[in-house]
Amino acid sequence: MTKYHIQGGKPLRGSITISGAKNAAVAIIPAALLVDGVCRIENIPQISDVTLILQILQELGADIRTVNRTTVDIDCSHIRNRQVPYELARKIRASYYLVGALLGRFGWAEVPLPGGCDLGGRPIDQHVKGFVSMGADVDVRSGLICAKVPGGRLAGGQVYLDMVSVGATMNIMLAAVLADGMTIIENAAKEPHIVDLANFLNSMGANIMGAGTDVIKIRGVKQLRGGAYSIIPDQIEAGTYMAAVAAAGGDVLIQNVIPKHLDCITAKLVEMGVEVEELDDAVRVRRSGPISRTNVKTMPYPGFPTDMQPQIAAVLCLANGTSVLTEGVWDSRYRYVDEFRRMGAHIQVDGKVAVIEGVPALTGAPVHACDLRAGAAMVIAGLAAQGVTEVDGIYHIERGYENLVGKLAGVGADIRTITVPDEDAKSQAG
Ligand code: EPU
Repeated sequence: MTKYHIQGGKPLRGSITISGAKNAAVAIIPAALLVDGVCRIENIPQISDVTLILQILQELGADIRTVNRTTVDIDCSHIRNRQVPYELARKIRASYYLVGALLGRFGWAEVPLPGGCDLGGRPIDQHVKGFVSMGADVDVRSGLICAKVPGGRLAGGQVYLDMVSVGATMNIMLAAVLADGMTIIENAAKEPHIVDLANFLNSMGANIMGAGTDVIKIRGVKQLRGGAYSIIPDQIEAGTYMAAVAAAGGDVLIQNVIPKHLDCITAKLVEMGVEVEELDDAVRVRRSGPISRTNVKTMPYPGFPTDMQPQIAAVLCLANGTSVLTEGVWDSRYRYVDEFRRMGAHIQVDGKVAVIEGVPALTGAPVHACDLRAGAAMVIAGLAAQGVTEVDGIYHIERGYENLVGKLAGVGADIRTITVPDEDAKSQAG
């Protein structure tokens, strides 16, 4: 078993370069299924979720060529297999994008129900509602989402999402680009990766209007052609390092970001006494004084992102005074709180609300990364804590953060990956 070993208490200084956005990449790569010809996709993050989705495409018959560390060419002209392998699909949430892409391209899809982080119920009824509005028959049986269009080609539809859903917005967009006629998505999500997917598809010949607003209109086209596209920088990866500087202190230039995408995170950090300077494609984050308490409520973009909730909680654990954190997106995103308590944090959770009473210092402890963002939060707490923290369950973190250890070590953190014999791991898990 591998773990992260962190000797805390060292301020961070230097610069970190942000990779491509995970939640854009895992939708844009399946979108290549809709394209006749070669898609060159640049700024792909090196994370295990991306490796999995590329592997799935390869199993379906896509021709994938690595151009360099962050660029691949994908050619889906000769897809021969439309059965998505269960063992791969169940490991990743984004496998549901294969339903929209396969249905749009071939009028038929059978995809195992997706996996991903356990954040409470993760229904897909809004995705299904969208496909049905375009004329598909959709059935969930034997662990599979089975979708079929009787005439072979979807027809434009109109769908009002009952809640703002990133996944449903992107999936319906994928299904609609080759449909016959206009599809309208109302109450659509507005996250930067929604706009990125629309820009990717438009650059290949799709006709999508309004991405980034709550009404998206997609006029179906006959065919998408190949081209080249570069994925946007990862808003949440950048926010995670901003939170790390806020917690551990120091002065770090975070490069290759779109500062506008970070506004919702910057605003809260500034309220907490962190200095954030916006540059063209970078932010400089500094913190030397005390951390002020604040309240945070997560909401769909442009609200404060739920995917930054555990990381901001790590910072608030060290604030002067009591903060209230409200989760506005997921039913259950506080499973990590017990791990923080092991480090001396004072947190009470009642449903979707966590009350965090700041403490002067956290103390290092063995902790578990129970999901991707909770894992990042454990690392942040470890960087700020006195003593040694060991984080296990790091495969969750490696699903979404490229070279986390290298990037943090590059700004002076004392963090390394260690391997412990499985026997030790078992007795600790006992
Ligand atoms: N929802 C439904 N029905 C649906 C779809 C969603 O009830 O058909 C509910 C969900 O239960 C949730 C809310 O709507 O309460 C929002 O869910 P959404 O569909 O937006 O989430 P998602 O698409 O499954 C993506 C990200 C998550 C991120 C959320 C919210 C990917 C692969 N995942 O999930 O990212 O938390 O949007 O921004 O893009 C992460 O990266 O750590 C992560 C969990």
